[in-house]
Amino acid sequence: MGQTPGHPGIPDRLGARLAEAARAARGLLGDPRPRVGLILGSGLGGFERRVEGARSCGYGAVPGLVQSTVEGHAGRLVAGLVGGVETLVLSGRLHAYEGHPVADCAFPARLAASLGVRGLVLTNSAGGIRADLSPGDLMLIEDHMNLSGRNPLVGPHDAALGPRFPDMTEAYSRRLREAALGAAAALGLPLARGVYAVLGGPSYETPAEIRALGALGADAVGMSTVYEVVAARQMGVEVLGISCVTNRAAGTGNGALSHQEVLEVGERVRGAFERLLEAVIPRVAAAVEG
Ligand code: HPA
Repeated sequence: MGQTPGHPGIPDRLGARLAEAARAARGLLGDPRPRVGLILGSGLGGFERRVEGARSCGYGAVPGLVQSTVEGHAGRLVAGLVGGVETLVLSGRLHAYEGHPVADCAFPARLAASLGVRGLVLTNSAGGIRADLSPGDLMLIEDHMNLSGRNPLVGPHDAALGPRFPDMTEAYSRRLREAALGAAAALGLPLARGVYAVLGGPSYETPAEIRALGALGADAVGMSTVYEVVAARQMGVEVLGISCVTNRAAGTGNGALSHQEVLEVGERVRGAFERLLEAVIPRVAAAVEG
């Protein structure tokens, strides 16, 4: 078998790279049997402390996983119980704007799938485009628009991972969306719904871009998530996505956008977001296994 350019010692077929990563992660995490995966967006890294019996390792210890460089993204794999359910928490998302190929951005989602996860929960922060989405709101992702021009499935195809042309009709599982709405209602937490659009970042969008996205039917905008979703769907994993609206999108609020504002609003909402995730995960496990 050949080697991946730039990754000495790592086999070139994605399936083989994944198998190697999964073997390493199993060894480092005490042979976990996760039922649900959770990828944490900016500022949600603190969720790790809600994991009971946590075993963890840094991304750097797993071949094929790249360490994140963004503030607020630790780059840790954590296995343990969330709401009584064996969960794999991926704390530290890789972003395309860091310069990672989007296939690498999707690798943590693929690793979760390889470790047996059948339901994957993704969180992110987003700018609100639709008029009723205010900073601090949580939004269930009903569908996405990948307008970044990039797709993690581009390149040689490894049929072991799934279809070359996976269907995206229900990228965000209907039954997992219902599970999330049920969990939010049980907690009395409002949960908006909408379409999440992605451009490339890392500069925020221009007001003209936001007007265009709104006209196309986007309700919120961000810089992540869609690559992981596409790869997870290719591997047959059901997906749930929840955005924290941290700001009004460019040109629709008061003045300039800042990463600091995104982090501050994320921090303000963190408690509610974490409670929702803790309540959602057992419902996701029940739905995918039901
Ligand atoms: N645009 C893109 N990504 C974001 C935003 C935004 O307004 N807010 C948080 N992430």
